[in-house]
Amino acid sequence: MKVLVLNGSPRPQGNTSKMTAAFKEAAEAAGHDVREFRAAGMNIRGCLACEYCHGKGAGACAQKDDMQKIYSELKDTEMIVLASPIYYHGISGQLKCVIDRFYSALYPKAPESLKYISMFLASGDKDQYTGARFSFDGDFLGYLGLEDKGFFSCAGEMKDEVLDEIRAMAKGL
Ligand SMILES: Cc1cc2nc3c(=O)[nH]c(=O)nc-3n(C[C@H](O)[C@H](O)[C@H](O)COP(=O)(O)O)c2cc1C
Repeated sequence: MKVLVLNGSPRPQGNTSKMTAAFKEAAEAAGHDVREFRAAGMNIRGCLACEYCHGKGAGACAQKDDMQKIYSELKDTEMIVLASPIYYHGISGQLKCVIDRFYSALYPKAPESLKYISMFLASGDKDQYTGARFSFDGDFLGYLGLEDKGFFSCAGEMKDEVLDEIRAMAKGL
């Protein structure tokens, strides 16, 4: 299947990126088509709430920035992986801008192809995930009705078992 990985970490060698790399390698080995976007290196502005997308734009966003690259992939993606460091008890601002800009493409309805979602979070301390999970559970599992392919987190130093759990999920897709 086609999987879109949205990585909200600015650190290419950080724990979020270790998780996305483990996922990508295992999912590709299992024959899946994985496309990763690093939001922190892209020019993606916040949603303007102009409602152009739900009026004249007919689903298209009024802002023409790097989000266009993600919109074109979203059309036939079957699974999204939301991957982020925890910043101040939530996902990073870079990934939050991407999610807010889903307003044109996933609200009120996601494309037919989109069925599955997973979340990878990296934090300094344990049990810091309530804010990020609220959006995952409420917006993606609840509102959009996507099937949960797993929630994976790592506090502090990366642990091999977290990467192994992610690889097992990827193999089982
Ligand atoms: C701006 C900022 C805010 C952070 N806020 C939290 C926090 O609220 N809770 C926490 O446990 N760790 C926090 N951290 C630590 C990061 O979540 C942690 O270092 C994580 O591993 C970073 O992900 P990365 O390795 O993918 O860059 C924060 C780090 C930064 C830079």
